[in-house]
Amino acid sequence: MSATPPSQGPIAEAVRLLTDARRVVFLTGAGISAESGVPTFRGPEGLWRSHRPEELATPEAFRRDPGLVWAWYRWRRSVVASCRPNPAHRAIARRALLQGRGVTVVTQNVDALHEAAAREEALALAAGGPTRVDPSPALPLELHGNLFRDRCTRCGRVSESPGVREGAPRGAEASADGPAPLPGCTACGGLLRPDVVWFGEALDRETLEEAFAAASAAEVCVVVGTSSLVHPAAALPLATLEAGGAVVEVNPEATPLTARATCAVRGPAAALLPAILGTPGPVMP
Ligand code: OAD
Repeated sequence: MSATPPSQGPIAEAVRLLTDARRVVFLTGAGISAESGVPTFRGPEGLWRSHRPEELATPEAFRRDPGLVWAWYRWRRSVVASCRPNPAHRAIARRALLQGRGVTVVTQNVDALHEAAAREEALALAAGGPTRVDPSPALPLELHGNLFRDRCTRCGRVSESPGVREGAPRGAEASADGPAPLPGCTACGGLLRPDVVWFGEALDRETLEEAFAAASAAEVCVVVGTSSLVHPAAALPLATLEAGGAVVEVNPEATPLTARATCAVRGPAAALLPAILGTPGPVMP
């Protein structure tokens, strides 16, 4: 991929839409993390191919067999903990940090890679300078929760899962003495669960409202690596379109959104996002 974006075609159109945009929303899905090594949900290697979601990612499954659900999440954590942000996460984080409060990052992913990219880009931008760069403009709204947080099923307290970001050993869910014990809340002793949204559960209302407000106000919504099948996330770019904004889709494959997108860029996110976002946008006053 050349450093200079082409002057015609979908990439050029995406660059043109984004260059002067002051309010931008990035909506991401599993595809943005595919090149980091995180399995997608619905592709040939997708997570749901080898595990039936109704057996693992539902409140009923957790009530029926919390040990099985925890074993699966511990395995997922161990896989994801060894993954690093790729150039797509970093390009988005850089744009958000350089542009400030005009950019909102919204993700359906629970892998915390946008957060890691925000911190890494903030450090990179600060390198050599006297002042620290605040990563918060690049921190995402996490629509489906975060794999590395726990939530108490009794008192609702949310906590970071100790040690898992460093990468638990694979197969940590079982030991020679049998399955790992179920984790308990340090505040009330209740059973902990992963702080993620399961099938049949509602999304956090405040997070969703913030995401829709940003999408409705955006001049451009960039939709990266999502099959655009799962609502309410799939409706965010439609809110941008209905308010008169543009939608740029970045995906190697067509989705139900493609026909409505202002511009569809075909290909992998890690190559395309740096090409599209190479030029920092205007800084919000
Ligand atoms: P999917 O697995 O449904 O879709 C992944 C999308 O990424 C597909 O459209 C692929 O074509 C695309 N893709 C694959 N590789 C890519 C790459 N290198 N660059 C860019 N795109 C690529 O994942 P999501 O749409 O994120 O919800 O799934 C949405 C939700 O469905 C998930 O958050 C999850 C699941 O049910 C919950 O768990 C609540």
